[in-house]
Amino acid sequence: MARNGIFFGILLALIALLQPWSATAASPDDKKPSLLKTPSEACQSCHKAIHQQWQKSAHGQPRTLTPLYQALAQSETTCPQCHLPKSEDKEIFKGDGALPCVTCHTIESVAHGGKSNNAKTMGIALYQLNEKVIQGPNGAWFGAKGAVPPGSIDEELASNPFFHHANPEVFRTTTACLGCHDPQKLNDAKTYPVSCQSCHMPVSGGFADHGTPAGKSPRMVKRGTVLSLQAKQNGKELTIQVTMTNLLPHPFPNGGPFSMGLLRLTLLDARGETLWENIEKQNMDKDPKAVFALTTADDLGHPAPPKPMTTIPAKDSRLKSGETRSVNYKMQQPSVAVVRAELIVLPLAPGWLEKLPENQRELPKGLLAAKSEVKLPDGTGGANH
Ligand code: HEC
Ligand code: HEC
Ligand code: HEC
Ligand code: HEC
Ligand code: HEC
Repeated sequence: MARNGIFFGILLALIALLQPWSATAASPDDKKPSLLKTPSEACQSCHKAIHQQWQKSAHGQPRTLTPLYQALAQSETTCPQCHLPKSEDKEIFKGDGALPCVTCHTIESVAHGGKSNNAKTMGIALYQLNEKVIQGPNGAWFGAKGAVPPGSIDEELASNPFFHHANPEVFRTTTACLGCHDPQKLNDAKTYPVSCQSCHMPVSGGFADHGTPAGKSPRMVKRGTVLSLQAKQNGKELTIQVTMTNLLPHPFPNGGPFSMGLLRLTLLDARGETLWENIEKQNMDKDPKAVFALTTADDLGHPAPPKPMTTIPAKDSRLKSGETRSVNYKMQQPSVAVVRAELIVLPLAPGWLEKLPENQRELPKGLLAAKSEVKLPDGTGGANH
């Protein structure tokens, strides 16, 4: 064990010599390179589990941006303020995630009074960054012996070459997120009753999960709503009511205008054959009240990225935070045995497909957020969840 330790020590010292960012002394006055020149790889050795989570998250995906982003970003210069980090050296961050560790962990405070009317002062440009001292929720005891790096796998690596500053005002509140996620609300960040982190960075295994699960996680997406279904057969007439409540502090589904929610209603006969459906695969016009979406368009009415890139006011039919909404149907359907309601989140709304190269225009599979089924025995009606 001890020999392993020594071996490790020598190895680390060698690595330190080879890599300019891994200086060992812990003083902010050091001639250490700026944190904004420190790739996430430099954090990985001590925060391995966090690094792994982050790598799989939307923040940690390498900068091979999606075809949709590339198609939309062509003539725009403001996109990188949220989609790429403020890194001084593109060479150093080559192969790093979209948001390297230091993008967030250099945020010291809100700059420009939090005003974001101008596209140039959005995203990372809304923040004052600290290039020398890592910002985090608790701070750290400088040079503390035996401190275990949160999210570490190897506890032997517990000596910290970087200064850490306690900045709970940013890291425990939505301040750390809204500059990019909803810049107009950044000034109200501290009034949120519950932080984004409590859901999207839950404590798991003893530290904050950096996988930021959300609308593309089959488990997470189910936590957003409660859905109930009532169906009554009266002679030939079938009446149906679907009621949905959004439990979240933001719209459901979030991620608009790119994602979209759909209420799929299916009527089945006694053999399980579909008698009727309220929507068709790519044609949502048939039942607009079953579509929950933020729609942003350019002057010509084509889908466009949200404000300030769009000029026309957005249309928003998503469920608002805390909203309960009922959708009703009445129709002549005599032989229905089962009524099924499914709330589905599509990661990409069909309108965006037209922006993609022709061979990539496939609608992604939706995720099931909630469902309910009612049986109508002998057409007598009933209700359950
Ligand atoms: C040599 C090991 C080591 C490296 C490399 C390292 N850290 Fe740490 N880090 C630690 C230790 C140890 C702690 C816990 C200190 C304590 O609890 O006193 C810590 C704590 C943290 C915290 C939590 C502090 C808080 O406020 O709660 C953050 C955030 C953090 N590190 C970010 C980073 C980032 C970003 C990098 C890369 C630029 C990095 N660390 C590189 C060892 C390291
Ligand atoms: C510097 C800008 C920036 C900051 C700060 C930021 N994000 Fe993000 N976030 C993004 C971008 C850009 C994406 C979309 C990346 C993509 O899909 O290409 C994203 C995606 C997400 C997603 C979606 C994940 C998915 O599965 O699609 C969640 C959840 C999220 N961020 C949560 C947070 C939380 C919580 C915070 C604050 C602790 C935060 N973000 C801070 C820019 C930021
Ligand atoms: C989108 C912004 C963002 C990015 C990118 C990010 N972090 Fe964090 N990190 C946070 C926030 C916010 C917290 C505080 C969470 C909380 O405690 O509520 C945090 C907490 C931490 C902690 C303390 C965890 C704990 O529970 O004590 C460590 C360590 C850490 N981050 C390291 C990293 C490393 C290493 C990377 C890169 C692999 C990284 N972070 C990338 C926002 C980010
Ligand atoms: C009470 C838990 C909770 C809180 C607090 C919360 N969210 Fe969410 N969020 C969710 C759930 C559940 C989903 C998945 C359903 C959906 O897509 O809306 C989600 C979805 C998202 C998405 C959609 C990502 C995608 O896949 O397209 C983003 C972005 C997001 N949240 C950001 C935030 C931000 C930023 C905050 C803080 C202002 C926040 N969330 C606060 C639970 C929460
Ligand atoms: C103010 C910050 C901000 C700006 C500026 C911004 N975006 Fe985004 N973008 C986000 C965030 C945050 C997300 C992910 C969560 C969401 O959708 O709410 C996102 C998501 C996306 C997605 C969906 C990614 C996915 O994986 O599903 C695309 C595409 C996109 N943006 C393109 C653009 C383009 C193109 C521009 C410039 C014209 C741009 N964005 C400007 C913050 C921004």
